[in-house]
Amino acid sequence: MSETPKLVLFQCQWCLFAPADQEWVDTQLPENIHLAKVPCTGRINPLYLLNAVQGGADGVMVSGCLPEQCHFKTGNIAARRQLEEFSDYLNHIGYEQDRIRFLWLDLQDRGIIQKELAAFEAQITALGPAHNLATRAAEKVGGVNA
Ligand code: FES
Repeated sequence: MSETPKLVLFQCQWCLFAPADQEWVDTQLPENIHLAKVPCTGRINPLYLLNAVQGGADGVMVSGCLPEQCHFKTGNIAARRQLEEFSDYLNHIGYEQDRIRFLWLDLQDRGIIQKELAAFEAQITALGPAHNLATRAAEKVGGVNA
């Protein structure tokens, strides 16, 4: 795949405990990554993932707090199970499971988000584009908090 993959990052607003990491995500995220901040991964409706896929995202990353560190106690545990089941469904209809990645961050993690996004982008680049389910592929997927 020669073109840069389009990625969507659903990020719990509490999961990046290092201000420098949050600053990087807020201001220096590469243009090919669309940021969607959420109050908790527990608030991510599976249809948000479908919307990203239909919008032409080649890969979707969900970053959240470790289960025992969720600000809403168990908000992300149910979400994790629900989103993983939904990614099974997406895999079944042709959006490979490797295109969706869950990243659970610890209080001590620093600089992980940059490394994980780079590794994920490399993985998605190797997989190639995912336009088979995109119904709005012509629309731009990129930028910050669009
Ligand atoms: Fe971060 Fe729930 S508050 S995942």
